[in-house]
Amino acid sequence: MRILVTGGTGFIGSNTCVELMKNGHEVIIVDNLYNSKIDVLEKIENITGQMPRFYQTDILDHDGLESVFKIHSFDAVIHFAGYKAVGESVEKPLLYYRNNIAGSINLYEIMHKYQVKKLVFSSSATVYGDDFEVPFKEEYGLGTTTNPYGTTKKMNEMIISDMGYADPEISSVILRYFNPIGADETGLLGEHPNGIPNNLVPYIAQVVSGQRDYLRVWGDDYDTPDGTGVRDYIHVVDLARAHVKAIEYAAEHIGTEVINIGTGKGYSVLEVLHAYEKACGKEIPYKIMDRRPGDIAVCYADTKKAKELLGFEAEYDIDKMCQDSYRFTQNSI
Ligand code: WQD
Repeated sequence: MRILVTGGTGFIGSNTCVELMKNGHEVIIVDNLYNSKIDVLEKIENITGQMPRFYQTDILDHDGLESVFKIHSFDAVIHFAGYKAVGESVEKPLLYYRNNIAGSINLYEIMHKYQVKKLVFSSSATVYGDDFEVPFKEEYGLGTTTNPYGTTKKMNEMIISDMGYADPEISSVILRYFNPIGADETGLLGEHPNGIPNNLVPYIAQVVSGQRDYLRVWGDDYDTPDGTGVRDYIHVVDLARAHVKAIEYAAEHIGTEVINIGTGKGYSVLEVLHAYEKACGKEIPYKIMDRRPGDIAVCYADTKKAKELLGFEAEYDIDKMCQDSYRFTQNSI
């Protein structure tokens, strides 16, 4: 299939492009390079032997985005493009609503105009909020989000569902990611956050590379085995492979499906830290701090639907995730 990948030079987007190309799909990328670098294109070529077509455009630029649809007739779209920093979204809600909602509506309107009816959307487990018991199940629906970033994911899910009611020929698969970490095994496509990393593993990576003195552990008084927060970490290449399954499923079906993409297993902050120590062969200093506002204690996926509908199961464990993250970090120094 010829697939438009918005946000395709990003951490998850670029790994997904590699897996799509490895499976014989033609990939065309649009990205505004707000949170990624153009050299990712050469890295994709390095891994796959092909350079994907790239257009530096913003989903907020309606004409710029439409011009890509005038050049290429797409079979499907995988929509990653969006701002994703939870903390920043609390400080700058309108920036997030404009970009993640108005930008997405631009895309959906242009897809409608050019009759592109297959969509995979990058959603997040954050839409469950803190309303439900773990493991989180898709049928729980949308919870109470605790930040504008999460709310934009929730609103996109609602918009996509409504699009499906209006046009039953539309086929959308909404993937709710848990915690993507790691890098491809060449160590070329990893996570390079701008500024101080909000997320756990990129921050640990910067402690290991000497950019940070120690990891701040946000709370050790949760109701978990070691008191620290538990999350469902999934290798970014496993997540990328799930997108290949999802877009191929969308090509064969109609309607809207919501699917969790996780491992179904939770790891605590300290378990991840010790796995990273094993991967890098160094002790990683940390300090226990107060809880981070908005954090929940435990979050992990029910993965039955991904297995039943997509035939998807995560392959890689936390050690592989940390090994591949560390290799990327070493390559980036
Ligand atoms: C994981 C655990 C922290 C940093 C968020 C978004 C989600 C998705 C993934 C985009 C928690 C602890 C973290 C640190 C720490 N984002 N931690 N010290 O909050 O589960 O999910 O990122 O798609 O939508 O909500 O991920 O990596 O920030 O935190 O102790 O420096 O690590 O308290 O328990 P989170 P995270």
